[in-house]
Amino acid sequence: MPDHSVIVEVKTSELTVARLQIETNVSLRPGGTAANLGDLVFESVRQIDAGPRLSSGYGIPDRLADALHHQYVLLPVLDDAKHYWVSDDEVGKLVRAGEGWLAEHPQRQLITSQSLRHEKRNIADAAARLASPEADGTIDDDDVPVAPRLVDRRADAVMQALHDVRAHSVADLGCGEGALLTRLLADRTFTEIVGTDVSARSLATAERRLDLRRAPDRVRDRIRLLQSSVTYEDDRIAGMDAAVLMEVIEHIDLERLAAAEHAVWGSARPGAVVVTTPNADYNALFPTLPAGHVRHADHRFEFTRAEFEEWATRVAATHGYSVTFRRVGEMDPSLGSPTQLALFVREAR
Ligand SMILES: C[S@@+](CC[C@H](N)C(=O)[O-])C[C@H]1O[C@@H](n2cnc3c(N)ncnc32)[C@H](O)[C@@H]1O
Repeated sequence: MPDHSVIVEVKTSELTVARLQIETNVSLRPGGTAANLGDLVFESVRQIDAGPRLSSGYGIPDRLADALHHQYVLLPVLDDAKHYWVSDDEVGKLVRAGEGWLAEHPQRQLITSQSLRHEKRNIADAAARLASPEADGTIDDDDVPVAPRLVDRRADAVMQALHDVRAHSVADLGCGEGALLTRLLADRTFTEIVGTDVSARSLATAERRLDLRRAPDRVRDRIRLLQSSVTYEDDRIAGMDAAVLMEVIEHIDLERLAAAEHAVWGSARPGAVVVTTPNADYNALFPTLPAGHVRHADHRFEFTRAEFEEWATRVAATHGYSVTFRRVGEMDPSLGSPTQLALFVREAR
């Protein structure tokens, strides 16, 4: 069930020109920035409901288009959750949808920052293009070094770790909508790939994005998608060369983490385990994240570097693995990198 549903009708005297139902199912953080953004969304809807404004110089379709552009920009940033499957042209899309209103909007910094997942380079690029519309963002790739996005650097780091341990069979646990599965499938080193998630909906999206139904047998034969929770033992993921928990552990209640440790390191016992998770120390660098808050409403906790190393060292020692740590993303000299990665390798017994 969506949390919010707004029905908007745009009418002339007799005729209903458009009827929209706008639904959102985001969780608004009480007192947080999301609540303010929620107000902004609904305010923009109310504006097209206001008769006098419709007749004062705005053509109806234009006004409706304005409101839809507001929705397009604001709805995905409501809970600051927009951090998966963001296309490469995100700055361009934001600038186009924000044309005529975002540059002047009092909350433009907050909206831009959350739309672009707090990535400083993109935020600066969007600010410049909003301030000066003639700068259309056309840049010569040879002139400007483009920093890869954190989501890509993280997936690159995981792929590198899998190659380092010479894995051929990989279980991507909590695979979500398949960001890593796409890369694994494109790399013929990986001959057996299993994607698991507790969410059937995410798995359905992953299947669609991987286009598995239309894929030839030789591709389909390399991959399986399974609904499964990492907090329960599952024989179907036993005996793999490697398992990945990319941005998953922080979604598990702390009191259930021991169950996941047992199921993955104790029962499935892959040759290697790659874990990535946010570095809570780095959160101080996000301008819109209040102190002590986690990055995403569904994060049950976020480890500092010291906490992550202590946790991973204990898990490794308990289950007979060695562990090493890698930093992922732009390094801050005192707060480290935005993402931390632990690579566990099973010790010979
Ligand atoms: C932030 S997403 C990460 C998705 C993917 N690994 C990636 O990095 O793109 C977290 C995923 O963990 C899944 N998840 C949460 N708890 C889980 C559990 N107990 N077992 C399996 N998956 C779980 C969620 O459904 C979600 O798809």
